[in-house]
Amino acid sequence: MSAQDQQKRISTSDIMARKGAVPLVALTAYTAPMARLLDPHADLLLVGDSVGMVLHGFETTLPVSLEMMIMHGQAVMRGSEKALVAIDMPFGSYEETPQQAYRNAVEVMQRTGCMAVKLEGGQHMAPTIEFLTKRGVPVIAHIGLTPQAVQVDGGFKVKGRDEVLWHQLEADGLAVQQAGAFCIVLEGIVEPLAKRVSDRLAIPTIGIGASAACDGQILVSEDMLGFASKVPKFVKRYGEVGQMIDKAVESYASEVRERSFPGPDHVYEAKF
Ligand code: KIV
Repeated sequence: MSAQDQQKRISTSDIMARKGAVPLVALTAYTAPMARLLDPHADLLLVGDSVGMVLHGFETTLPVSLEMMIMHGQAVMRGSEKALVAIDMPFGSYEETPQQAYRNAVEVMQRTGCMAVKLEGGQHMAPTIEFLTKRGVPVIAHIGLTPQAVQVDGGFKVKGRDEVLWHQLEADGLAVQQAGAFCIVLEGIVEPLAKRVSDRLAIPTIGIGASAACDGQILVSEDMLGFASKVPKFVKRYGEVGQMIDKAVESYASEVRERSFPGPDHVYEAKF
C-alpha cells in the first residue's frame, strides 16, 4: 500500500480525536464485497474473530487461527478505502508473551496492510499492549465481556450487574489506556458502568451491548442486517437481509424447476 493510500484512510489519531465528539460508527467486516458496502458509512471496520462464528459456523471464537484472520483482513483491505481497518488477534496468538504478541501482530499488519490490531483483556494484558504500542503496533483494547474467555466465564455473560465488579473494570480501562491503547471496546456491560468508564477515560470507548453512553458503537454487521437467525438480545435489526435472500432463492428455485428463467439472449434490467 502506498503512503497516498494510507492518507485517504481514517487514522488512529482521527479516532482518538472523536472522544466526546461525534460518536464513532464501527462495524465488523470479513469479506471484500461487504467491506465495499460498509466503508462509505463506517469510521472503523473490524475484522473480528467473530468471523469464526458468523461465517465459519463455530460455536465460539476459540478455533479461529491467525491465518484465517489474515485472509479475511486482506479481503477487507481490498474492499475498503476510507475506514480504519483493525484486525482481531485470535485466541492463542498473543497471550503467552509480549514477544509472541508482537511477532504475530507484525505478521498481521505486514500481510494485510491494516492499521491496528485488537486484543482482549484489561490489566493483565497492559504489559503486552505497552510492548506493542511502543514498537509501532496500534492497539484497540477490549474489556467487559471478552468472548475468548467464554470457557472460563462459563458463557457469554453481561458484566457489571453486580457493582462489586465496577472497580475492576474501571481499573482495566485505565490500565490499557496507560499502556497506549488508542481506543477501547466495552462489550456487554451495564449502562451506568459504560458511562462511568467512558467519563473516566481520555480515549474513545466503543460499545457493543454497552449502551449509547459510549463514544461510539460497534455491531456485528450480519446481526444488525438480519442475516443471522440467532443474535444477542440487545441487537437492533436494521434490515432483514436473511428474509430477502430466502425470497430471492425461492423465486430462483421455482424458475429453475419450471424452466422459466431467462435464456442467453435475454438482457436483464434490474428493477431495484
Ligand atoms: O469479534 C468481534 O466481532 C468483536 C466485536 C464484536 C467487538 O470483537
